[in-house]
Amino acid sequence: MTNAIRVRGLTKSFGDLHVLRGVDLDVEAGTVSALLGSNGAGKTTAIRILATLAAATGGTATVAGHDVATEPGAVREAISLTGQFAAVDEVLTGRENLVLVARLRHLPHAGRIADELLGRFSLTEAGSRRAGTYSGGMRRRLDIAMSLIGDPQVVFLDEPTTGLDPEARLEVWDAVRALAASGTTVLLTTQYLDEAEHLADRIAILHEGRIIADGTLAELRRLLPPARVEYVEKRPTLEDVFLAVIGHGPATAAPHEEATTAPHQEEVA
Ligand SMILES: Nc1ncnc2c1ncn2[C@@H]1O[C@H](COP(=O)(O)OP(=O)(O)OP(=O)(O)O)[C@@H](O)[C@H]1O
Ligand SMILES: [Mg+2]
Repeated sequence: MTNAIRVRGLTKSFGDLHVLRGVDLDVEAGTVSALLGSNGAGKTTAIRILATLAAATGGTATVAGHDVATEPGAVREAISLTGQFAAVDEVLTGRENLVLVARLRHLPHAGRIADELLGRFSLTEAGSRRAGTYSGGMRRRLDIAMSLIGDPQVVFLDEPTTGLDPEARLEVWDAVRALAASGTTVLLTTQYLDEAEHLADRIAILHEGRIIADGTLAELRRLLPPARVEYVEKRPTLEDVFLAVIGHGPATAAPHEEATTAPHQEEVA
């Protein structure tokens, strides 16, 4: 089993603030893992260390087989990082943003690479428009597309969907799934439980400086006591309703509606 990311006893302190207190994490190659944690838990700090943008206080981490502290150059060649705040140039068009990154990476056929990525992220039509006119979801997709230039083995996405509406979130989720399907290893951070649930093969929960739980969703569910059986009316969530009315909804919206208006047989009898 090859681990694309291997972290052991990672610590990071800012003065008296001990943000990471011994993080252990393994991410298998070609999978999507989510690092879940509240605001200030240290998710961005951990990602920045793995992406060689910050030095750890202690512990070790290897990414794509290279130590982040002693072989940062080799790590950088194998990764890309999409930060918490979009790195898109608003004055350039979507296509120009992509061509610029491809040229900076000295890749031949920058235009062809740009067009291929625009297609992959459903941005072909918008490609000739200034990125400043894009919606939040389009901008995020362009941002992720830019980070894929040069085919990195490992992609870090720091809160890829924060601030997006439900429709745009689904667009980004599709983009992440497509990435994983192509064999890329993805480590993303999120504060959204449902995002981790829908997107990640494995979920690691960062709390008070340590990974307090790590596993597949099924494994994490087994940490809780067995579910009690309750009879409740299943009402659609606001998200179900929103997505259904804008035409992106799960096909299960209609039966939920019926359930809410159906008479209570038990009470009638
Ligand atoms: N350069 C720094 N100097 C001092 N403190 C820092 C620095 N970077 C981060 N911190 C502190 O470390 C803690 C963790 O920050 P971090 O950005 O990693 O959290 P996060 O989990 O990414 O939170 P969010 O969900 O809000 O993005 C916070 O208390 C933050 O103030
Ligand atoms: Mg953060």
